[in-house]
This record gives sequence, C-alpha cells and structure tokens, in this order.
Amino acid sequence: MKTTNILFIDTDPGVDDALAITMINNLSNETKIYDKIIYSSIGGNTSLKNTHQNMMNILKTLQSSYSEIYKGSERTLLGQKYVDAEHYHGKNGLTTKLNSSELNHTTIESYELLQNLYLEDKGIKITFLMLGPLTNLAKALIAIPSISNIIKEVIIMGGAFYVKGNATQYSEFNIYADPEAANIVFKSDIIIRVIGLDVCDEVIINRDRFYKSKYLFTESKTKNSKFSNLIIDSFFNFHSNKSEMSLCDPIAVVCLFNENLFEYKLKNVTVTLDELTKGQTIPSKQKGNVSIAVNLNVNKVMQMIDKSLS
Ligand code: RIB
Ligand code: CA
Repeated sequence: MKTTNILFIDTDPGVDDALAITMINNLSNETKIYDKIIYSSIGGNTSLKNTHQNMMNILKTLQSSYSEIYKGSERTLLGQKYVDAEHYHGKNGLTTKLNSSELNHTTIESYELLQNLYLEDKGIKITFLMLGPLTNLAKALIAIPSISNIIKEVIIMGGAFYVKGNATQYSEFNIYADPEAANIVFKSDIIIRVIGLDVCDEVIINRDRFYKSKYLFTESKTKNSKFSNLIIDSFFNFHSNKSEMSLCDPIAVVCLFNENLFEYKLKNVTVTLDELTKGQTIPSKQKGNVSIAVNLNVNKVMQMIDKSLS
C-alpha cells in the first residue's frame, strides 16, 4: 500500500506562529513531499476562539494551500483554561487586525481526526510540527497509545533545557501552558526533535535592521513578504521598547526541513508538575529518545527564515 504522508501543523497564532505559517506557505519545494497539509489550532497565546480565528485569517490572507483545518482543544488536559500571552502577542493574539475569514472545517476536534486516521489504517505517516501547547497530541496518545505507529516524527517548539524559561524562570511558555500534556508526549515512544529556548536567542528580527530594510523580505513585494512586514511592523509598534522579535516558531520550521543545521543531545525529558517549577523540562543524564537542539548554524537558519518570508 502506498504511504500517505501528512504534515500536521498545530499552532496558537501568535505573531511568531504567523511568520511560521508564512514560511510553510512559501516553502512549496519542501512541502511537496507531503500528500496532505493539515492545520490545527490550539489555545495558548490567547483563547482557542482567537487562535482558531487568527489561523483562518492568516491562511486566507496568504491564500495558503492546505487540505483541511481543525479546531483543537479548548482547555488543557486537566480541563483548565489556558494561560495567555496577549501581553506579548497582542490582544486576541496578534498585534494587528486581519480581515475576518470563515474557512470550512469539520466539527470533530483535532485529536479525534488523529484517532480516525489511525483507525482507518490506510498506510498513513504523520509528521507533526507543534508550535503551541501539546494538548492535542497528548489527547490522541491517551485515546490510542499505539497511535505512534502512524507517526513519522514530531518537531516541537517548546522547553528550556539548559537555559532559563520565558513563562517562569523554570519553564518555556508552550510547556508551561499544559505541562501534563507535554509530559505524556515526551514520555511516549515517538521520535521527537525539540527546539527549545536554548537555540532561540541568536536568531531574531532586529528592529533597526528591519526598518533599514536590511532583510531580503523587507525588499520583496510578494503577498508573503507584505504579510511578514505587516506582522513585524505591528509587533514593533505594539512593543515600542523592544529592539528584537523572537522567531521561536520559525526556527522550528527550519528544523523540520533542515535538521542538519542544528546539533542535538539525545536525552529523555521529564516535565515537572509541581506548582513552583511546573513546565520545567529536565533532560536525563543518560541517553534517551528526544533530540534536544543545543546549537545551530545561526547564519544559515536566519538566511532560510529571511528567504522564506520573502
Ligand atoms: O515560548 C515561545 C512559544 O510560545 C512560541 O510558540 C510562541 O508562539 C508561544 O506560543
Ligand atoms: Ca506558538
């Protein structure tokens, strides 16, 4: 039976998610290996209602090609409301207002789609690009533990392994937002590459370079570059005191297509659940199953982001 390759992008737009989706839209040579591209929203940077609407508005603005879109989990694995990061990503999750779009999507939740794909057993292999909290994948793993049989690999933006966190001093936002879900994913037997804050501080958009048009995408006039410029300009207007914009999710996109631009440590990962340190991602001393990115080729990663935002 021919294998059907699916790219499943789980996202909580979010300004850097918006840039990551723009890159995916531009990387047609890289994404053509997939028979289907599925987008799934998740709560996180703002409520699911907002992240889902933002995802639809971004896909419509970019005239993105994809197969289906799904709405993810409204609440965390424990049924709690997500904390939000609107102080960073703007009210409702973006620092700019996009035209509102309604795109067709089925009523089943993302994790139920994953269950159905497993039960259909039609030679499917799924690659996951996880850009927000890990609730959807964790719910699928709980429902069907052997779902890992249809998973090729999972690329996660999340965690702070050998550095401080950004949600608390211990934990990075995506993991902090649903630590129980993250623990289930990292403890599963799936093949995981993870981009943590350890490799996010040198690949950024610099305010001065942006307004002096020092990037390829600031010079380009495509719909992707116009959208990238809109997102970044609105971000710097929203944060008048910031000289840099993080590119965590875009770095994860580079890792999906160019894993060789990163160096990894192969470890097991435990996610703490206690009140003080919850969401801390602790790598094991011994070898494990999670490839933790600990270094990267800064210039080449930035070049790929710049080019794919153009
Ligand atoms: O810590 C960075 C991550 O949290 C990114 O995915 C950003 O979009 C937020 O979700
Ligand atoms: Ca995100």
